[in-house]
Amino acid sequence: MTISDVSPRPADAGAPRPPLLEVTGLTKHFPITRGVLRRQIGAVKAVDGIDFTVAAGETLGLVGESGCGKTTTGRMLTRLEEPTGGRIVFDGRDITHLSVARMRPLRRDVQMVFQDPYSSLNPRHTVGTIVGAPYRLQSVKTEHGTKRAVQDLLERVGLSPEHYNRYPHEFSGGQRQRIGIARALALRPKLIVADEPVSALDVSIQAQVINLLEDLQDEFGLTYVVIAHDLSVVRHISDRVAVMYLGHIVEIGPRQAVYEKPQHPYTSALLSAVPVPDVTRRDNRERIRLQGDPPSPIDPPPACPFHTRCWKAQEVCRTVTPPLVEFAPGQRAACHFPENAPDGPYEPGTDSIVAPAS
Ligand SMILES: Nc1ncnc2c1ncn2[C@@H]1O[C@H](COP(=O)(O)OP(=O)(O)OP(=O)(O)O)[C@@H](O)[C@H]1O
Ligand code: SF4
Ligand SMILES: [Mg+2]
Repeated sequence: MTISDVSPRPADAGAPRPPLLEVTGLTKHFPITRGVLRRQIGAVKAVDGIDFTVAAGETLGLVGESGCGKTTTGRMLTRLEEPTGGRIVFDGRDITHLSVARMRPLRRDVQMVFQDPYSSLNPRHTVGTIVGAPYRLQSVKTEHGTKRAVQDLLERVGLSPEHYNRYPHEFSGGQRQRIGIARALALRPKLIVADEPVSALDVSIQAQVINLLEDLQDEFGLTYVVIAHDLSVVRHISDRVAVMYLGHIVEIGPRQAVYEKPQHPYTSALLSAVPVPDVTRRDNRERIRLQGDPPSPIDPPPACPFHTRCWKAQEVCRTVTPPLVEFAPGQRAACHFPENAPDGPYEPGTDSIVAPAS
């Protein structure tokens, strides 16, 4: 089974859901210091003012090339990283700068699944200790004891209760990721930030883990932010997709719109690199080869950050920062020359229908 075997979620036609997570102007600049006095001589602008919301029960896919700020964003959402600017409101509470003590009860509601199932599990601890750790850390008593709760969780993520006394090295990559997911689920969180949850796994295993995440979402009413550099991974699990480039969100919108009618050239480039598994669906999209690597986030290009690699760049792109503009219902992009908006910005009341995915 591969990612393409995961059945896509139906397009969301339901009533708008209230946001569980609201992020405004979120920023993380890592200082660069020099000398014994650690004088600051610059900053890595890892995340440079991003805005988005995630509704309860929704999945937001966050994609972009290596180094664009995805992990830093995820770590700020889970408060493993202190933001240098902006605001994070979770479930109606401003959690941007909560102290460790005041964040503690919230740790139950917000959990992270990490990129590397090999290094994120302590090799000296048994599976029982690892998955049961959140109960101990939060002093949570379970009805039939921690061991029983952990064994239930192991079963729920497709492992065996017998695995309780085993060590991480006895498991495959996919199984280890299931252990990480069981640990994240222990306290029944509301939000899970999954940072590249399948990119370290064999392609044949990836779809199984994505399917598991989807099943768990339905069962426990979870809200997800799923980070990936590969658009094919988030295609099947996301309701909406945000594309990041050099610390900025350059496009965000409903999954179907972003994949079928991307507005930002960078999204087009990422999409053109995604293999189309079904030959009958092979569209006319030409493969766009991006030149070079992204510029350094220490000294990002002025105005449109993508202009140094964009085949459509003109003078205005080098001098005027394109704002995030709504070009189709709910679909925003930061580009002076959007790919699929010949009539310019979207005006409510003139709903254009996005062709359904075949
Ligand atoms: N603790 C840190 N100190 C200084 N710079 C950092 C730190 N953490 C991340 N960075 C830098 O911030 C930028 C964004 O890093 P981040 O890990 O968020 O990117 P990413 O999109 O997750 O990349 P990848 O796909 O490789 O995981 C990179 O340039 C990275 O080098
Ligand atoms: S604003 Fe200009 S340089 Fe930036 S993505 Fe759009 S066309 Fe390319
Ligand atoms: Mg990362």
